[in-house]
Amino acid sequence: MKKSTKRVLAMCLTCLVLLGGMFFPVTKSAQATDVITVGTYAEFPPFEYIGDDGEPDGFDIAVIEAIGEVEGFEVEIINMEFKSLIASLSTGSLDAVIAGMTVTDERKQSVDFSDSYYTATQYIVVAKDSDITSLADLNGKKIAVQEGTTGDLLCTPGEDNDVITDENTEVMRFKKGTDAVVSLNNGGVDAVVIDKNPAENFVANNSDKLKLIKDDTSTEEYAIAVAKGDTELLDKINSGLAKIKEDGTFDKLVAEYIEGAEDVETETSGNVIQQFINNLKYVFIDTNGYQLMAKGLGVTIGISFCAGILGIALGFVLALMKLTETRKKRKTVWSRIAGAYIDIIRGTPAMVQLLIMFMVIFRSQYAYIAAILSFGINSGAYVAENIRAGILAVDVGQMEGGRSLGFTYGETMRYIILPQAIKNVIPALGNEMITLVKETSIVGYVAIVDLTKAGDFIVSRTYQAFLPLIAVAIVYYIIVKIMTRILAAIERRLRQSDNR
Ligand code: ARG
Repeated sequence: MKKSTKRVLAMCLTCLVLLGGMFFPVTKSAQATDVITVGTYAEFPPFEYIGDDGEPDGFDIAVIEAIGEVEGFEVEIINMEFKSLIASLSTGSLDAVIAGMTVTDERKQSVDFSDSYYTATQYIVVAKDSDITSLADLNGKKIAVQEGTTGDLLCTPGEDNDVITDENTEVMRFKKGTDAVVSLNNGGVDAVVIDKNPAENFVANNSDKLKLIKDDTSTEEYAIAVAKGDTELLDKINSGLAKIKEDGTFDKLVAEYIEGAEDVETETSGNVIQQFINNLKYVFIDTNGYQLMAKGLGVTIGISFCAGILGIALGFVLALMKLTETRKKRKTVWSRIAGAYIDIIRGTPAMVQLLIMFMVIFRSQYAYIAAILSFGINSGAYVAENIRAGILAVDVGQMEGGRSLGFTYGETMRYIILPQAIKNVIPALGNEMITLVKETSIVGYVAIVDLTKAGDFIVSRTYQAFLPLIAVAIVYYIIVKIMTRILAAIERRLRQSDNR
């Protein structure tokens, strides 16, 4: 075997081992048996929301932890979209779900429910001056709901809906209840239909703009869900629930989380500038928005950096693999592998790759590793083509010159071609790294709180969209600006010896 081939092989092997090492901890056995993973969707105050530390908090979280305490298991909370919760129970990536989830016949087909722990009903939130007074008044109006919830069912005209019968009723489905409220605040919809306690919470936080219409016609029961047939866990949960009701813990939590929820005062006095400054203070300082953003920024930079390094390493190897084809003037095993890799990765959306990596391969664990791997692998495909183009752009005469001086192919590559290729590659590589930073903004989908997700949380907590989102955009812009500067400096440095 030639020396150069050996080197490529060694590099591939190292990469494989590295990747393998990262995959290894996925095996469940690494986890203690008495930890149960509990899914929730922390956008439902006071039952679940994101606390000041960026972690899920709320009544439901406290209840399941209390149950765990009396039953002797530990709880790991996983925050994911409401719609995915039931599916994740069925696939086994969650052991239980506590999410203010109503027991419905339809859901009972897929999961088993514990005893009920709370009785709720759907309330209507409207603007202060609205003339809507009941559910029936919503006919023909524009209603915002949280997607896939009982409020959604209640408002969607259909066969067994005898309240909302007007087919022209427009239902806007938001992932988060808070987004529905933001849209009501902005005048985009006429009403929000959502469970009683979140409705009260939303109105309390926007008491200058919104009012509550209590329609007690539709009561529903909240319960904890487990996978169908998991009677062992269900029994534990029911027995734990009974115990904490018995010993007063449950009532204490109700008092603390549900009855004790206080109103937030928003300043409305002063002139426009004063109001703006107050608002700025409210969004970023009083509600700890800046802390969330700073944390998120760290995550964005961390993931981008690691994925970037991985992408460049993979890209380099893939480029060399693909170049074997140019050299041999026919397809090789290496070039076929690299070609297929690039083809598949470029042919599928990064978002889907991320979801496959996290949910299928990593089974909803090790989100950070899954994200870094996914983005690194994705970036590698693009970097590979950049590097290959950069190498091919070096004049053939350079290779011929090197070889006629007695260098091997590998040596010529290393000492003559690559140093020149780097200059060609830097601008495209920089482009790719900039894209990567912005692309990581989708990691929120796998429950990672990056810069974008942090902005999203601030929107949820403050019911304001403008300031948090603009702030997030500005921070991304600054990161990219800094990267552009650094790249320009590197390029200038590399071109110092050029006489063009
Ligand atoms: N109770 C309603 C339902 O089961 C809404 C629950 C929403 N929960 C949440 N954590 N966002 O459909």
